[in-house]
Amino acid sequence: MPAIQLRDVSKRFGDTRALESISFDVKDGEYLCILGSTGSGKTTLLRTISGIIKPDQGEILYDNKNMKDVAVEDRNAVYVPQTYALFPHLTVIENVCFGPISKGVDLNEAKNRALQILKLVKLDKRANSYPNELSGGMQQRVALARGIASNTKLLLLDEPLGALDARLRLELRVELKKIAQENGLTVIHVTHDQEEAMSIGDRIMILRKGRIQQIGTPLHVYLSPQNIFVANFIGNTNFIEGTILKRNTRGSSIRIRGGYQIMVDDTSHVAEEPVVTAIREEKIKLFDHPIEAKNTLSGDLIGANFLGTFIRYEVKLDNGDILAALHPPNSDLTKLRLGDRVAISFETFHTKIFDYPVLGLKRELEAY
Ligand SMILES: Nc1ncnc2c1ncn2[C@@H]1O[C@H](COP(=O)(O)OP(=O)(O)O)[C@@H](O)[C@H]1O
Ligand SMILES: [Mg+2]
Repeated sequence: MPAIQLRDVSKRFGDTRALESISFDVKDGEYLCILGSTGSGKTTLLRTISGIIKPDQGEILYDNKNMKDVAVEDRNAVYVPQTYALFPHLTVIENVCFGPISKGVDLNEAKNRALQILKLVKLDKRANSYPNELSGGMQQRVALARGIASNTKLLLLDEPLGALDARLRLELRVELKKIAQENGLTVIHVTHDQEEAMSIGDRIMILRKGRIQQIGTPLHVYLSPQNIFVANFIGNTNFIEGTILKRNTRGSSIRIRGGYQIMVDDTSHVAEEPVVTAIREEKIKLFDHPIEAKNTLSGDLIGANFLGTFIRYEVKLDNGDILAALHPPNSDLTKLRLGDRVAISFETFHTKIFDYPVLGLKRELEAY
């Protein structure tokens, strides 16, 4: 039930700044996904919200109440760690019932509810197994079931689907969201899987090196990435370095490597400014013949990877830049061979312009 607020929360471990001035709100009943690479601070953030870690600085509020002096066990939040930490001497159902029974819930009632929840995570048939008889993915689901059974209103989930195989991960994603909605839970769900975050989160938050990069609905973050890192991290994006040549009220022209020119709709940068142009790979059109159109560049096909839904083509442009284009496999491009001459083109309105980063483009794309 609770709404969560973080105000300027920081945490260091020695020289490592694990969290840097983190501020955000989670609404009552909201499902927030926190997305970041390994080491970005996700676990530290969850543990800090749960109270296991004390922040060096800043405030954490549950329903406007400062949690500073509230003990972990009095916060009515459940943190489900990445490593499942089940009781080895208790069966699956006993693990799931443990919390409710120790809080005084009637034994039969607790068992019935535990069975229901085990059904949701597809483990009711293993209720009487011991943790060491289960696979890692099964143990993870028991830990999740135990978290849900605790009747908490705030669930803090650390990579809850990480150990599961692909199909089960998809199924449980849907179940988790449903459980949260039906029970009015506030959920903060940490993952490094962007598709998982986008599909399940009401909002997503991108974390990098302990700093928030962006927070918003998945669609908003996808369509309007706030910086180069987010544009690269969410979705598949090409980046072209260049300098603004001219701008008018309708757009700008940009000089790119090799003296070529491209046109974009952006008008926020002035002549001579160094910029980075971002174009999604799915917005790049590929042709097996020369074409006459705005923003057309030619080059050699140097890669073609079949990804299932798409073929990802890589083109080395005549100026040396390498761009990628995603195309459905049913197009006539399947006849292309590596080394063939090709042309690419893109619309002026599918581009997004960023300031050229102080430390260079490459540095900006790194997770650390
Ligand atoms: N107890 C600790 N002692 C020292 N460094 C830590 C500790 N916990 C986390 N860190 C460091 O803090 C950073 C963030 O870690 P973590 O929160 O575990 O990231 P994530 O969960 O995103 O992988 C990492 O650089 C990690 O090495
Ligand atoms: Mg972690």
